[in-house]
Amino acid sequence: MNRIVYVNGDYLPEADAKISVFDRGFLFADAVYEVTSVLDGRLVDFPGHLARLHRSLGALELTTPLDDAGLEEMHRELLKRNRLTEGAVYMQVTRGAADRDFAYPASSEPGLVAFTQAKALIESPTAAKGIRVISVQDIRWARRDIKTTQLLGPSMCKMIAKKAGADDAWFVEEGFVTEGTSNNAWIITADGAIVTRNLSAAILHGITRAAVMTYAEAAGMRVEERPFTIAEAQGAAEAFITSASAFVTPVVEIDGVPLGDGAPGPVTKRLRELYIAESRARAS
Ligand code: PDD
Repeated sequence: MNRIVYVNGDYLPEADAKISVFDRGFLFADAVYEVTSVLDGRLVDFPGHLARLHRSLGALELTTPLDDAGLEEMHRELLKRNRLTEGAVYMQVTRGAADRDFAYPASSEPGLVAFTQAKALIESPTAAKGIRVISVQDIRWARRDIKTTQLLGPSMCKMIAKKAGADDAWFVEEGFVTEGTSNNAWIITADGAIVTRNLSAAILHGITRAAVMTYAEAAGMRVEERPFTIAEAQGAAEAFITSASAFVTPVVEIDGVPLGDGAPGPVTKRLRELYIAESRARAS
């Protein structure tokens, strides 16, 4: 790959981009991030991602070296320099470099890195086929509402799913699904309600989740925010996941049990089309 990436004020070829071995993002996962999808060369719901970034930063007493206008300009510059029309921009803010100590350093320069990833988001073969998920115990920490770079739990569980022949895992805590390894989990009940877990520290407050709720309700669909079990999901009419990189992607099998006829369902397809149309219209 030959991308231009952003590192602490500079745009550099990716091979030349370096950070300190003392960066607390590297040593402690003392860093937060955002992934903003890109459609037609434009950013999807960047204000939503900025708002969540500030929430994550606030929870960890972190600051960013650029203000909101600077962050937006940096995103646009990366799109331009990499000629990205479809995919995502990954941005990470770290507490910066300091001698290793569990306490936050009294003063450190926050770090900021960002890069683009090209990906076919609309014509996604995964979305056309749907994914198979398995359930795993939610082994992550208790502040999943903060979007930190502590991603080893999700990464391990994604591998457990892959080794079991599935595509992804849904985390279960105290009998209820929290979310997917890198996405929010949803079911559609037999009577047409669209159900996703209510917001709390147990899940990431997905930007795609919020948008799908708004668009679904505006289209006259009923959305319920509540926990659900794997058994309820296996008996549901349809299921799907949402994230900035998956948009709305159907789930066709849970722990070996096919949903409906085992193919992506009509309501999920409609929600995906709705999400893509609205996101395209509003991207800026
Ligand atoms: N993941 N839940 C978790 C645990 C996530 O990591 C993500 C996003 C989501 C969906 O959030 P959003 O709709 O704002 O993307 C839910 C990103 C895409 C990632 O880590 O690559």
